[in-house]
Amino acid sequence: MEARIFTLYLLTIVCLFHVSLQGQHQRRLYKDLMRNYNPLERPVFNDSHSLTVHFSFSLMQIMDVDEKNQVLTTNIWLQLYWTDYYLQWNTTDYPGVTNVRFPDTQIWRPDILLYNSADERFDATFHTNVLVNSTGYCQYLPPGIFKSTCYIDVRWFPFDVQRCDLKFGSWTYGGWSLDLQMIEADVTGYIANGEWDLVEVPGRRNERFYDCCKEPYPDVTFTVVMRRRTLYYGLNLLIPCVLISTLALLVFLLPADSGEKISLGITVLLSLTVFMLLVAEIMPATSDSVPLIAQYFATTMVIVGLSVIATVLVLQYHHHDPDGAKMPKWTRVVLLNWCAWFLRMKRPGEERVRLACHNKHPRNSLSSVELSMSQGTLQPTNGNMLYIGFRGMEGMHYTTTPDSGVICSRLVGAGDEEVLLPGAGLPNLGNVAGGTGVGVASPVDSDMSKILEEVRYIAKRFRGQDEDESLCNEWKFAASVIDRLCLMAFSVFTILCTIGILMSAPNFVEAISKDFFT
Ligand SMILES: *[C@@H]1O[C@H](CO)[C@@H](O)[C@H](O)[C@H]1NC(C)=O
Ligand SMILES: *[C@@H]1O[C@H](CO)[C@@H](O)[C@H](O)[C@H]1NC(C)=O
Ligand SMILES: *[C@@H]1O[C@H](CO)[C@@H](O)[C@H](O)[C@H]1NC(C)=O
Repeated sequence: MEARIFTLYLLTIVCLFHVSLQGQHQRRLYKDLMRNYNPLERPVFNDSHSLTVHFSFSLMQIMDVDEKNQVLTTNIWLQLYWTDYYLQWNTTDYPGVTNVRFPDTQIWRPDILLYNSADERFDATFHTNVLVNSTGYCQYLPPGIFKSTCYIDVRWFPFDVQRCDLKFGSWTYGGWSLDLQMIEADVTGYIANGEWDLVEVPGRRNERFYDCCKEPYPDVTFTVVMRRRTLYYGLNLLIPCVLISTLALLVFLLPADSGEKISLGITVLLSLTVFMLLVAEIMPATSDSVPLIAQYFATTMVIVGLSVIATVLVLQYHHHDPDGAKMPKWTRVVLLNWCAWFLRMKRPGEERVRLACHNKHPRNSLSSVELSMSQGTLQPTNGNMLYIGFRGMEGMHYTTTPDSGVICSRLVGAGDEEVLLPGAGLPNLGNVAGGTGVGVASPVDSDMSKILEEVRYIAKRFRGQDEDESLCNEWKFAASVIDRLCLMAFSVFTILCTIGILMSAPNFVEAISKDFFT
């Protein structure tokens, strides 16, 4: 009985041993490893020694750069490597088992966190298994969609380069218990982003000291450097803005009589406002730095606003009331002389007037004015037309346009002075033979005097109209001078602003050459 029980017992033992010897090495290994394992314990041989954790990450994707909330969203796989002293085994004891996996809660693992996390759960990693090989070497690669705070400086938008830090460190261990070491970031699996070009991902290891203790607190900071791709913003914001500001210049080319000057200016101003709203929607509501593009839009808006004001001035000059005040002297000098000379503008009809004025005759020459009429000068086709020639003007190179006739009569016969009436009455004129230059001193005929009165009246009316017209023309000319002056000034200003503001971006040339010409 005793012997049987003993044999059975022995058999059972042998059986059990046999089973565990033949297979289930892994189970045995897990059992052996976990026997005295405490995940709270820092797995080092000597508690005074520090545990070295090597840290790195693979950047898979830049998912979003939120300028407004200053949050960078990235898809990252963290990489943590350390050696667990208690998770070593002899491979010959457990044949076929080269590595084992543990859920992250079962064994000790470093509490590395993203310090500048902006995630709702703070730790955004997916907790994967830890891979351990026989030397106790642990590999922990938790992936995660990380949201990190990042100061996004939009000063040079859309030609900006952003540098976003990702600071990783142990939340509770100091440098003496957990030595964090950096491995260069890995970007081989990076998937390109449409809006951002990844420039580089440099990393550095920092040690911080706090007042409390001498112990350093190490952290590893990776900086994601990315350059905004400008093509989109160039096509959708910059080129329309440049076009619109060019359109604003057309306001000065539009004739004042078209009555569309102001509406064009206001339309341009409105469309600029629409674009400015678009920009404001993207930009964070910060007053730290004004974005380049907002600066450009604001300057363009100021230019367009000023051009509307200038247009109002131009229209005011153009439609000046002829019965109103005469043009002030200084305005005349500045606008009509200096500016017109500078802009090489000629007054319409200036040549003609100057010519007439040069040939102006003294008044006493009126006394020698002789009405002459010859058969030869009568227009054969228009029998009723009276050709009145002034003898004193014989030497002039005149073309007998109706206009010049008016000017001449005005210049020569200005005023209400008594005109010496020729003696011959109209009916008698036909009798005067021998061509021009024959003075007639016969008594004044009443018909002739009536006609002359009419002529004088007509001349006066013409003179008045002419004066009004020339006054109007003067204002209109002043308006066109202002128009031209504004066109020049605003063109120069717009070009300077466009070049000056856009070129001031540090990487403007690089951005343009990379995005527009590749
Ligand atoms: C632990 O390390 C410290 C310093 O490195 C040493 O003084 C101490 O003797 C070590 N203890 C053991 C048990 O090895
Ligand atoms: C592993 O175990 C075998 C036999 O049990 C032994 O010969 C060998 O030295 C051990 N190896 C180590 C590294 O301990
Ligand atoms: C465990 O992994 C590390 C790192 O990959 C390697 O250096 C070491 O040789 C491995 N040990 C064994 C026993 O495979």
